[in-house]
Amino acid sequence: MGSAVVEFRAFCHADIPHLLTWFQTPAELTQWGGPKRRFPIDEPQMTALLAETVGTRPGRRIWAGERRGSLVAIASAVLDWDQGIALLTMVGVAPSARGQGLAAPFIRQVVQAVFHEPAFERLELNVYTFNTAAIRTYDALGFVREGIRRSMVRVGDERWDAAHYAMLRSEYLQHHAMNDDRILVWGAGAIGGTVGAFLKRAGHDMT
Ligand SMILES: CC(C)(COP(=O)(O)OP(=O)(O)OC[C@H]1O[C@@H](n2cnc3c(N)ncnc32)[C@H](O)[C@@H]1OP(=O)(O)O)[C@@H](O)C(=O)NCCC(=O)NCCS
Repeated sequence: MGSAVVEFRAFCHADIPHLLTWFQTPAELTQWGGPKRRFPIDEPQMTALLAETVGTRPGRRIWAGERRGSLVAIASAVLDWDQGIALLTMVGVAPSARGQGLAAPFIRQVVQAVFHEPAFERLELNVYTFNTAAIRTYDALGFVREGIRRSMVRVGDERWDAAHYAMLRSEYLQHHAMNDDRILVWGAGAIGGTVGAFLKRAGHDMT
């Protein structure tokens, strides 16, 4: 079991070569990014997605999780600023880092980043119904299953169903309060600051 301490930051161009190694088949790519991504995922596709992240009201944000200098997680949100709806997509943990409990702490920070923007009232997502690891993560974070979108995507000869989940701002605030993981660090000066910075990087709310 690896350390769950992951640095949360914006995904950047230098991350692209690492991500390109994660998905070996069209099915793996679709499971991660939905039907709009073309196999194999490549630098031009990711550069085009990064271009959507610029500006004060970008159409998309993309976040990265980094552990010991390596990219270990990615997630994106498609942002409808007028309606206040964010669509979570492209959630992934590096193959070598899966099964180590990284998904929930990472996605928790994505959820916080989305609702940090007052414009957003709803964070929604689709997850293919066979994807147990993802579903356990979304359930644990308090997403509400709203229904099944049947035969949502064609992958080779198969069609996959997707479960539709969402979290409202009110549910986020309630869940966040119930699972409040704030830590009070006693002690001023260098030691308090160092411990606080370490815990903040680990995903704890140090405000
Ligand atoms: C989905 C994904 C992000 C989950 O990350 P992960 O590192 O594999 O999962 P974690 O180790 O954080 O575990 C999350 C939960 O799933 C469970 N789990 C992990 N791997 C599992 C597996 N292969 N089968 C069933 N459950 C599994 C864990 O036990 C945990 O549940 P628990 O907290 O109730 O015990 C990752 O598997 C992934 O990137 N998959 C490919 C892309 C993808 O499917 N993205 C999701 C799109 S919606």
